[in-house]
Amino acid sequence: MSVVVTIQPSPTLKGELRVPGDKSISHRAVMLSALAEGRSILRGLLMGEDVLSTIGCFQAMGVPIQVAADKVVVDGVGLRGLKPPAKVLDCGNSGTTLRLMMGILAAQPFETRLTGDASLNRRPMERVAKPLREMGAQIEEFRASETERIVKVTGRPLRGIHYKLPMASAQVKSAVLLAGLYASGETAVEEGMASRDHSELMLQAKGAPLSRQGGRIRIQAASRLKAEDLEIPGDISSAAFFLVGAAIGKNSEILLKNVGVNPTRTGILDVLSAMGASIEELSQRSIAGEAVADLRVKASALKAARIEGALIPRLIDEIPILCIAAAAASGKTEVRDAAELRVKETDRIAAMERELAKLGVRFQGQAEGIDVEGPAAFQAGDFESGGDHRVAMSMAIAATQAPSASRIHGIECVQTSYPDFFRHLAGLASNPS
Ligand code: S3P
Repeated sequence: MSVVVTIQPSPTLKGELRVPGDKSISHRAVMLSALAEGRSILRGLLMGEDVLSTIGCFQAMGVPIQVAADKVVVDGVGLRGLKPPAKVLDCGNSGTTLRLMMGILAAQPFETRLTGDASLNRRPMERVAKPLREMGAQIEEFRASETERIVKVTGRPLRGIHYKLPMASAQVKSAVLLAGLYASGETAVEEGMASRDHSELMLQAKGAPLSRQGGRIRIQAASRLKAEDLEIPGDISSAAFFLVGAAIGKNSEILLKNVGVNPTRTGILDVLSAMGASIEELSQRSIAGEAVADLRVKASALKAARIEGALIPRLIDEIPILCIAAAAASGKTEVRDAAELRVKETDRIAAMERELAKLGVRFQGQAEGIDVEGPAAFQAGDFESGGDHRVAMSMAIAATQAPSASRIHGIECVQTSYPDFFRHLAGLASNPS
């Protein structure tokens, strides 16, 4: 079923907003609380489909998790307390669920089968399977049907490895570190460019023997993880849509409250500021080792930027919405070193080429990035998510600046990361200027 929404022109966005909990931190909070000893109360957890997939998988392995309106209560079973699931674990659309769980399951004394939706079943898992096999796990992939893939993980006693990441990927890094929680000897992961470090921060906070030096992270087997109550900061990847929406608007001004500003995630702030956006970080604070701030963003004239190298892992999920900022900016924005975009929920370079063309923007796709030329006069149209939540939300923001109504098709995917997105957008659009 493809759900369609109509977006009316709304050049001015104004108001105050709390974006939902950070998706990456939410997954890790559920997983590590499940493996901890005792009760953890999680507040501000993202209640999107991706995190619900993670919750469902751990419930299927015998972890009591209660979901209430304002909190999620996890009764951790300890590092060795998971039970073999009775059925194939369904990770839905969530790469983080599947990849991080592979690391945990690689060490369990049972066999697990995992699958997902058609998009997830196309995405590469070998990048995680390879290091886990080196640690001693047995991992196979097979097709159950045209669209269904099963990843079979047979847990084994693991040995630590020293692994140099071939790509900047927090999911691969995290899977190896989680397996390292159970491995004999030291497990070390070396990353050339820093990717999000939420796993490292949370593992340390829960007492795992993890240390970091430069780009090298070391972990030893842990005897136990501490249960602790957590408050999850807002997701900067969700805030990104409104940061750009306000920056490209007319007289727009939005205050985004309680947004996670971990430096491994703030590439979007650096790039938008370099493009000339007015963004203030207010009330900076720290919640459970994660940096948090309120972000005030105001409309400004933007200019083009070059987005490449070490910046890429710090804003990898924000490139679709940065393409919209680039289309509104004067000059040619060049995105490079972003081949990873081709293996996200969709091929996001191809998806943005398709949608930018409808918006009336000049662009040139590259093997590992895209050039976007602005400023463009945005055209209204019929935009398609292609099943990708970040493409759907990016095109909705673009549509606010078009001269007449647009439709976004296939918006059901937005449930994965930001179920309230369209309600929040409507609220900001209707506030009097
Ligand atoms: C994530 C890591 C990134 C990111 C994804 C979430 C995580 O993926 O794109 O949305 O929570 O670890 P990669 O590890 O594939 O870069």
